[in-house]
This record gives sequence, structure tokens and C-alpha cells, in this order.
Amino acid sequence: MEPVIPDLRSVPREDAYAQLLSIQQLVLEDSRDIIAGMATTSALLHHAFGHLWTGFYRVVEPGQMLRVGPYQGSLGCQDIRFGRGVCGTAAAEGRTVVVPDVHAFPGHIACDARSRSEIVVPVFDSTGALLAVLDIDSAEPDAFGDADQRGLEALMAWFTRTTYVPTPA
Ligand code: SME
Repeated sequence: MEPVIPDLRSVPREDAYAQLLSIQQLVLEDSRDIIAGMATTSALLHHAFGHLWTGFYRVVEPGQMLRVGPYQGSLGCQDIRFGRGVCGTAAAEGRTVVVPDVHAFPGHIACDARSRSEIVVPVFDSTGALLAVLDIDSAEPDAFGDADQRGLEALMAWFTRTTYVPTPA
């Protein structure tokens, strides 16, 4: 049986992400399937923190287009061009983007009118190529800070390890 997702809303963020990292390792230690990794990691983050929307946009045309992947929440938009909105900006620049107030972000794509703040973290494969972005939207303003960025980037490192293909000796 899989572990129950803990409610981490009132736990200090550093501790909360450490707990999620252990659960992620436990559940995914025998997996090399990135869709299973995306589905499992979205469920963990979404229910532990009670976010509005938590999920992945996958690179379907490198440098051009993202498409929605495994997620939790209300319906997400299907395709996002590199450079558009918060997800497209994080993808184009290959870096984490934290937006304390989505209304102040030019070009923000509003899939859910309740969204007030968000964080988007790039996901790289073992060659350093962009695989996807993790998008988390909150109904609270200014919901994400440095501890979230560090914790989420640590969780996303699973994808880099998982896509490592050893070369034969
Ligand atoms: N907030 C994102 C769009 C995706 S949805 O909100 C699920 C953005 O501006 O990139």
C-alpha cells in the first residue's frame, strides 16, 4: 500500500519538503517512468499543501511548445508557447520563476480566475535538456519563496537522475 500524503500546510517549508522528498524516494525508487514520476509528484505536492493547481507542462517541440502533462486541479490549458505566460517564460529561460502577484505579470495565462500567485520550476533530463516545467498555482497571494524554490528543485532532481542512461563500459 502506498503511504498517505501528509497535510503539511502548517509545517515549516524546509521540513515539509524534506518529508516529501523521502516519500517521493520511497514511492519512486524502483521507477524509471517519467509520467509515473510526474503523476506521483503532482499528487504529493497538491494534497500536502492544498494548492489550487499542481502539475507539469511537457516539452513537445523543443524551444517552441509545451503541452499539459499529469496534474491535479481544475482543467489546465492544453498548449503553451515558449515565452508565453509564466510557464513559457520559465521554459524559455530555463530557470525557476516565482510570481507573487499573477495580475502584475505581463502575459500571465489565467486558466483559473482564483489563481493569485505561482511558481514554475524547470525539469531537466540527465543531458541538461529541458523535459518539462512544474507549475504550481495558489489562491493565496505571495505563497512561494526561497524555501519552495529549493524544495521543488530538489524534488525535480529525481527526473534528472531517472533519465540517466549509463554507457556500457
Ligand atoms: N499559470 C500558467 C498557465 C497554466 S495554468 O494556470 C494551469 C502560466 O501563466 O504560465
